Amino acid sequence: MKGLILSGGAGTRLRPITHTSAKQLVPVANKPVLFYGLEAMRAAGIAEVGIVVGDTRAKIEAAVGDGSRFDLRVTYLPQEAPLGLAHAVMIAEDFLGDSAFVMYLGDNLLKEGIAPFVQRFAETQPDALILLQKVADPSAYGIAELEDGCVTRLVEKPAEPRSDLALVGVYIFTPAVFESVKAITPSPRGELEITDAIQHMIDRGRRVEAHIVKGWWKDTGKLEDMLEANRLILSTIERDVRGTTTECIVEGPVVVGATSRLERCTVRGPVIIGERCHLAGAFIGPYTAINDDVTIEDAEMENSIILEGSSVCSLSARMTDSLIGKNVSIRRSDARPVAYRFMVGDSSQIGIL
Ligand code: DAU
Repeated sequence: MKGLILSGGAGTRLRPITHTSAKQLVPVANKPVLFYGLEAMRAAGIAEVGIVVGDTRAKIEAAVGDGSRFDLRVTYLPQEAPLGLAHAVMIAEDFLGDSAFVMYLGDNLLKEGIAPFVQRFAETQPDALILLQKVADPSAYGIAELEDGCVTRLVEKPAEPRSDLALVGVYIFTPAVFESVKAITPSPRGELEITDAIQHMIDRGRRVEAHIVKGWWKDTGKLEDMLEANRLILSTIERDVRGTTTECIVEGPVVVGATSRLERCTVRGPVIIGERCHLAGAFIGPYTAINDDVTIEDAEMENSIILEGSSVCSLSARMTDSLIGKNVSIRRSDARPVAYRFMVGDSSQIGIL
């Protein structure tokens, strides 16, 4: 079995971070979301993976390389524009050949990985296996209607959903899917939808099997979901404090990289702090992921993700629920006039006191 990971797309819901990076490379607990997908492929026994890439191809290639660090053979499949998930399958046909394959949306995270589903597919040998989970906001997803456990109808982001069972971003297909991705036409949002292709398979009498995912699943395409995914992964970490801590209180599951220095800080886990960070006089509260080369002085924060090279200094209130990009500087200023001073990229969001 081969793997197909979709890492193209525009990432509009995570701007401004996605102006300079790919949404699949935003780290969750200090590891790019995409890497969890690659590791899940390997853990399921898959060795050969195609990654569909778009405008952010160079960034994805720089991060993943030839795949050898994941013990995978990776082939990049350029998609000229984000024309839809079914379009991505279509352009991957030559790479996939006559092999069954797992298609994995590069911004999705699944607690139990994909091995149980690959095994189930091997046992029951359907034409397609789809994964479903109940969601609170069904109109944001592809939605499945079931009758006696069988899939009868699939609709992409319905305005009036008739079920709350969402399509999880992991699918297993036989090459029978190629006929269907070629037969469908673009949806109202202008994309070739994989949801429509699977419906086409059902209409042609192909065997589409559904499996309900029990462990947590997250599509990290939006800020709140990214923070939730970060919380879910951080709640599984174990304490491993390697850096130096001077006059610090470090409580619970906290990971600190060996080259980081903490002085006069209180860190309440779960928290992960990368390499070469310097923290002084800080409170780092639960569910915070601080990436490499970050400086935090005289500031408090919780439930946040901070990317490489950023600094947060002298805040007069606690920072929470935040995603801070790379090389960002946030600091209180004593300059006159007393005023807010911003230099902020397009589509940023700032909440002030
Ligand atoms: O997360 C689950 C949902 O994913 C499903 O419930 C929906 O049925 C499915 O259509 C999909 O919806 P999204 O709107 O969340 O898909 P998104 O545009 O975010 O694309 C998912 C991934 O695929 C993302 O990593 C970008 C990549 N992609 C997307 C498109 C449209 C491509 O590589 N090429 C594309 O053309």
